[in-house]
Amino acid sequence: MPDATAHSSLARPDDGLDPLFLRTARGEAVETTPIWIMRQAGRYLPEYRRVREQADFLTLCRTPDLAVEVTLQPLRRFGLDACILFSDIMVPVIAMGLEVDFNPGPVVADPVRSEAGVRALGRPDPVETMPFVLETLRILRREIPPSVALIGFSGAPFTMAAYMVEGGASKDFTALKGLMFQEPLVFHALMEKLGLTVADTLRAQIAAGAQAVQLFDTWAGILSPADYREFVMPHVRAVVDRVATPGVPFILYGTNTGGLLEDMEKTGADVIGLDWRVEIADARRRLSPGCAIQGNLDPAVLFGPSAVIARRAREIVEAAGVEAPHIFNLGHGISRLTPVEAVDTLVDTVHREGRRVRAGQPAS
Ligand code: CP3
Repeated sequence: MPDATAHSSLARPDDGLDPLFLRTARGEAVETTPIWIMRQAGRYLPEYRRVREQADFLTLCRTPDLAVEVTLQPLRRFGLDACILFSDIMVPVIAMGLEVDFNPGPVVADPVRSEAGVRALGRPDPVETMPFVLETLRILRREIPPSVALIGFSGAPFTMAAYMVEGGASKDFTALKGLMFQEPLVFHALMEKLGLTVADTLRAQIAAGAQAVQLFDTWAGILSPADYREFVMPHVRAVVDRVATPGVPFILYGTNTGGLLEDMEKTGADVIGLDWRVEIADARRRLSPGCAIQGNLDPAVLFGPSAVIARRAREIVEAAGVEAPHIFNLGHGISRLTPVEAVDTLVDTVHREGRRVRAGQPAS
């Protein structure tokens, strides 16, 4: 067990041995609502920007000391209940043999659009090709206090395929969907290869100390439910099956997934991550009682005054209730323009309202 007293700047007042985040994900009765924030290590923090002045983004990801430093930065400021490995969904794509740059989003030099392109992709051994990721996790497990959970992650096969086939960000994903409908066998072969790499990556991350894993299927919501079931769901389910580790919650996140929630749960994921386009109460009705929910404040609310942030956070905590597990998060990554104080307001409100709702007290 890490010694929290050796890192007093990170120590939490309620330091226990079993993180609130993990107890919540397991469905235990908890004292309050845990919170972490997607992209919590990032450009809205001046100390992150200072590190970035010395190194480009990929160098940060590949240098354990720097990746550990930026992962810890938000924990020093805010009472967050989890931290996420600092890396990117494109790191395994690079390990599979593609050339990827960041500007600031991923740009793939030679997009994959044919059977030959899929065949050329390797199945990387994470220990050999991504040792820096595993070393970062091992150091983090020693450095973070025992009350804070360490989350590993990967892009989901479909979201990684989106960048690999499109070559970068896209508005309508015509190359990706074109491949899907014109060459379904090639598309499935790509998804299968990605699924194996993703599962290998997540298993290695768990072995290196990740206590939970999140699969980012950011672009799943561009598909109809029928196409999600045909082209994506079996591959996600295969990843969940391969990665399943007792005591290690599996979080499946996507945006624009209001039409997909039931199918996402059928992949076997323990926690379903939502963006703000779905109401928490609606998600609760549609997912089974044991399924945990993560989300779902619109990141733009953090541009509002603190009273608005507090009210919107309270509404989500109340709507989530206490009958089924809820992990608070934003509905998507935090904006780089977010005022730092807004995050303080959010974290404090979620913990306070989570305690109040559990005590059955009225809102003040
Ligand atoms: O705290 C954390 O969450 C940090 C770890 C992390 C990053 N990217 C760091 C990052 C994680 C979990 C990701 C996941 C990721 N990367 C996703 C899924 C989540 C999502 O946002 O939907 C996606 C789609 C990517 C691909 C990617 N990488 C994009 C679209 C961008 C540009 C982001 C932007 O805000 O402009 C990146 C670059 C990136 N990844 C940055 C960070 C901190 C900014 C890089 C910089 O410092 O220049």
